[in-house]
Amino acid sequence: VSLKPFNTFGIDVIAKHFVITSSLKDLKDVLNLEDYPEKLILGGGSNILLTKDVDALVILVQIKGISIISKTEDTVLIKANAGENWHEFVQWTLQHNYGGLENLSLIPGNVGTSPIQNIGAYGVELKDVFKSCEALNINTKTLTTFSKTDCAFGYRNSVFKQGMKGQFIITSVTFKLTTQNHTLHTNYGAIIAELESKHIKTPTIQDVSQAIIAIRQSKLPDPKKIGNSGSFFKNPIVDKSKYLQILNQFPDVPSYTVSETQVKIPAGWLIEKAGFKGKRLGNYGVHKNQALVLVNYGGASGEEILKFSGIIQTTIQRIFNIMIESEVNIL
Ligand code: FAD
Ligand code: EPU
Repeated sequence: VSLKPFNTFGIDVIAKHFVITSSLKDLKDVLNLEDYPEKLILGGGSNILLTKDVDALVILVQIKGISIISKTEDTVLIKANAGENWHEFVQWTLQHNYGGLENLSLIPGNVGTSPIQNIGAYGVELKDVFKSCEALNINTKTLTTFSKTDCAFGYRNSVFKQGMKGQFIITSVTFKLTTQNHTLHTNYGAIIAELESKHIKTPTIQDVSQAIIAIRQSKLPDPKKIGNSGSFFKNPIVDKSKYLQILNQFPDVPSYTVSETQVKIPAGWLIEKAGFKGKRLGNYGVHKNQALVLVNYGGASGEEILKFSGIIQTTIQRIFNIMIESEVNIL
C-alpha cells in the first residue's frame, strides 16, 4: 500500500502490511497477530515525515464515537474516540456551545493523537481541557486510563513521547469543557485584531474559533494543496542570557517568557533571519508565509526534506548558537 494518502506531507512510501481498525476489538485482534512484531500507529498522518518504506505493520486507528459522560451546571465531560477527526470534533463541541477547544480549531489530525504532543495553539494547550485518556498497552493488550498527571504534559511533550513511547495506542480522550460562563483566551494579538476587523466587541467561543480559522488560513499551507506537517521544529527554549545576547544583535527578536530564567524564541523568526523563508529547492522548500513550515510541492522524498531540515538546523546553530529540534515525528 502506498502511504501517500495517509500522510499530509504527501510522501510516497510503501507499507508492506497495512490494516484499518474501527473498534477496540479490531485493535486487540490485530495486536494478537504474532507475525508482526513491529507496529506503526497512524492517525491523520499530519505530524510525521516518512523517510523510507515501512516494514512494520501500519495500524490506522479509525475508532469513531463521541459521548457525554456527565454534566454539571457549568461543565461537561465528553469522551471522544481516537479516530474522530480533531477539527470536526472541535466544531461539534462549538455547535453544542461547549467551551474550551475553540483556540485549537483547524489543527489537523485525530483526537487520539492530541495528547501525544499536547497539541497547542493561540494560548491554549490540550492539557488545559484534558481530563483523561484510555490507551491500549501494545504488549499486554490491556486498557489503561491515564490522568492528566500521568500524562506529564509539557510544551509539545507528554509521557507518550518519553517513558511510554511506542508502548500504548490511545483509544479515547475525555475532555472537561464549560457549558456556560466560558473563559475566552484572546491574548494573542492576532486574535484581537481579527475580531476587531469583524467589529466583534463581545466575542463568543464560536467567534474566537472563526477568528483562529481565518488567522491560520492566512499563513499555514493547506495540506490538501501543498504537502506539509505544520511546524517542522519546536520553538527553542533558551537561557535569558542567551536571549539577551541575541536581542543585543537583533533588537526585533520576538520572545515569550517561560520562567524567570528561560525564554522561548520563535524558530520561524530564526529561520527567516537565516534567509530560508520562501526558499525552494526543486520539489520542496520553506513556506513563503511561515518559515517554520517545510513543504513538499509534490514528488519530494522524505529523505530530501530531512536532509534539508538538517541544513536549516546547522545554519541556525552557526548563526545563533541555538540547536532547534524537530517537532515532526521522523520515521
Ligand atoms: P499522526 O501523524 O498520525 O501521528 C503522530 C505520531 O503519533 C506518530 O508518531 C504516530 O505513530 C503516533 N500516533 C498516532 N495515533 C496514535 C494513537 N492513537 N496512539 C498512540 N500513538 C499514536 N500541532 C499543534 O500542536 N498545534 C498546531 O497548531 C498545529 N498545526 C498544524 C498545522 C498543519 C497545517 C499541520 C499539517 C499540522 C499541524 N500540527 C499542529 C501538527 C498535527 O496536527 C498534530 O500533531 C496532530 O495531533 C497530529 O495528529 P495525527 O492524528 O495526524 O497524528
Ligand atoms: N515569525 C517570523 N517569521 C516566520 C514565522 C514566524 O518572524 O516566518 C515570528 C512571528 O512574527 C511571530 C512569531 O514568530 O512573532 C510566532 O509566529 P506564529 O504566531 O506564527 O507561531 P509559531 O511560534 O511559528 C506556534 C506553534 C504552532 C501554532 C502557533 C499558534 C510551535 C512549534 N508551533 O507557531 O503550531 O499553531 O504557534 O499558536 O510551537 C504545529 O505545531 O504544527 C503548529 C503549527
